[in-house]
Amino acid sequence: MASPFPLHLMLISFSLFSIFTLLINPSIGSSLAEKHRIKLQNLSFKDGSRPICSPQRPRKEKGELLLELKHHGRCSKPTLNWHEEMQKLLFSDTSRVQTLQALVRTETLETGSLSETRITLVSGIKLNSLNYIVTIGIGNEEKVVLVDTGSDLTWVQCKPCKSCYEQQDAIFDPSLSPTYNPISCNSSECLDYENTLGNFHSCPLNQTTCAYLVTYGDGSYTRGSLGHEKLSLGVDQDDWFKGFVFGCGLDNHGLFGKASGLIGLGRSPISLISQTTSKFGGVFSYCLPSPISSDSSGWLSFGQGAIGTANSSEATAYTSLLSKPGISTFYFCNLTGISIGGVLIEVNYSSNGQVGSLIDSGTVISRLFPSVYKAVKAEFLKQTFGLPSAPKFSILDTCFNLSGYEEVSVPTLRFHFEGGAEINVDESGILYVAERDNSQVCLALASLGSEEEYMILGNFQQQNVRVVYDTKGDRLGFASQVCSEM
Ligand SMILES: *[C@@H]1O[C@H](CO)[C@@H](O)[C@H](O)[C@H]1NC(C)=O
Ligand SMILES: *[C@@H]1O[C@H](CO)[C@@H](O)[C@H](O)[C@H]1NC(C)=O
Ligand SMILES: *[C@@H]1O[C@H](CO)[C@@H](O)[C@H](O)[C@H]1NC(C)=O
Ligand SMILES: *[C@@H]1O[C@H](CO)[C@@H](O)[C@H](O)[C@H]1NC(C)=O
Ligand SMILES: *[C@@H]1O[C@H](CO)[C@@H](O)[C@H](O)[C@H]1NC(C)=O
Ligand SMILES: *[C@@H]1O[C@H](CO)[C@@H](O)[C@H](O)[C@H]1NC(C)=O
Ligand SMILES: *[C@@H]1O[C@H](CO)[C@@H](O)[C@H](O)[C@H]1NC(C)=O
Repeated sequence: MASPFPLHLMLISFSLFSIFTLLINPSIGSSLAEKHRIKLQNLSFKDGSRPICSPQRPRKEKGELLLELKHHGRCSKPTLNWHEEMQKLLFSDTSRVQTLQALVRTETLETGSLSETRITLVSGIKLNSLNYIVTIGIGNEEKVVLVDTGSDLTWVQCKPCKSCYEQQDAIFDPSLSPTYNPISCNSSECLDYENTLGNFHSCPLNQTTCAYLVTYGDGSYTRGSLGHEKLSLGVDQDDWFKGFVFGCGLDNHGLFGKASGLIGLGRSPISLISQTTSKFGGVFSYCLPSPISSDSSGWLSFGQGAIGTANSSEATAYTSLLSKPGISTFYFCNLTGISIGGVLIEVNYSSNGQVGSLIDSGTVISRLFPSVYKAVKAEFLKQTFGLPSAPKFSILDTCFNLSGYEEVSVPTLRFHFEGGAEINVDESGILYVAERDNSQVCLALASLGSEEEYMILGNFQQQNVRVVYDTKGDRLGFASQVCSEM
């Protein structure tokens, strides 16, 4: 007969085991609980779906003016294969980031060196890094233009062109527009804009109109004359801005695809946001579609309604927009930490004296201090232990070979800001599919070259988030939202 003793022992050890499990669960809970199960097929777009380039007409809802926003890829032919397209996207991203860093650093010095930096061209780059397009009205013509929060002047290509690239719409002809008024070269207005844009010779010899030159992060530029024109953003006369200052671009070169020009949503007095403050109160917001999927669209919205939380799955949470004397164009915020599957990695600015981090709609991949990136990478690898690794891809060095996987479980990614606001990064903003067969899928974050550079919050991590810029209230807001459902 078996003695009851062993049974008794077994019961005790069982309950001890239960207690032990209960005790350790909370500590491992963070890596178990906060994960996304991602279907890999959702991260790459379908073949053959290259829809048309022009976004639809604007619409109005509850004091908010909404313009449909599409990815710029819709305006160019898919000539490259998947791998090359993904490589191209990151290559142009690198040159934008390098120039942004140079601009942010020099903007804090006297304006003299600023213009020199802006005029510097990054040669040999024939790719595009400005990502989104909307349709606006200039004079009585509709134009598809790029959207950029990293610059201020709004411009379109103009006749008579000295050198215009090929665009989809007809080129704007100011001589046919009764509402066009050139800004004269010796006016005080011209001098003001000259200072704002950091140009030196706005009045070259024999020139009667106010000249401008703007160069972008990727080496693209536009050169021409400033004028006043009617700008229409909406459907009715309420949304017309008479006497809007814009650039009539006579010599334009670079990575503008087939767009007719660009709208500048920076913070300086010449930006579209500043010029429309009386109507929109300096508030705009956007919800960005995926830079990879060509069949999704988002929106750009102006006005107090842009603050509203209609259709958001959560309330908008705000953090302060920081300003630094001398920095007029860019938007800075205090990014205080990043969490991976609920494990927080703090950002420490104290060693390098930055004002904070930049938020940019034109940079694709967010850039982190090397020290922060290293910690983020280590935590991500720890929580994805067991996934087969793959070689690095361009600036992305945390990569996996997921061929054969249909679905993968990855930790959540959150950005934390001063004041408690956070971005809960959408599952489409965590992994970057470098190879179509998923044999190279990378964490979509990259390291800066040094701790002295500025961290940048890029658009890949802003997908499916309503980002509110309140330039009068000096605050920046975030709310998760499915962009295509507006
Ligand atoms: C992912 O794809 C599946 C079907 O392929 C679809 O049902 C699901 O809604 C998609 N998820 C997202 C987030 O797009
Ligand atoms: C600008 O120049 C024109 C002639 O070129 C002159 O008639 C006008 O008075 C000048 N305006 C100012 C503000 O100097
Ligand atoms: C510019 O002005 C100078 C005199 O100031 C004149 O000799 C020259 O022909 C002009 N050039 C053009 C292109 O008008
Ligand atoms: C909210 O979404 C619904 C349907 O998804 C749409 O009909 C409505 O216009 C949206 N409202 C706003 C303010 O965007
Ligand atoms: C931040 O950096 C400073 C200087 O390098 C260092 O003394 C401090 O311990 C760091 N703080 C944290 C929380 O890492
Ligand atoms: C950013 O926020 C942290 C935490 O609230 C604070 O200690 C730090 O001073 C802030 N930095 C800036 C530049 O505002
Ligand atoms: C990825 O893994 C598969 C097996 O799952 C293997 O056949 C393939 O060679 C790997 N590809 C690369 C690029 O390492």
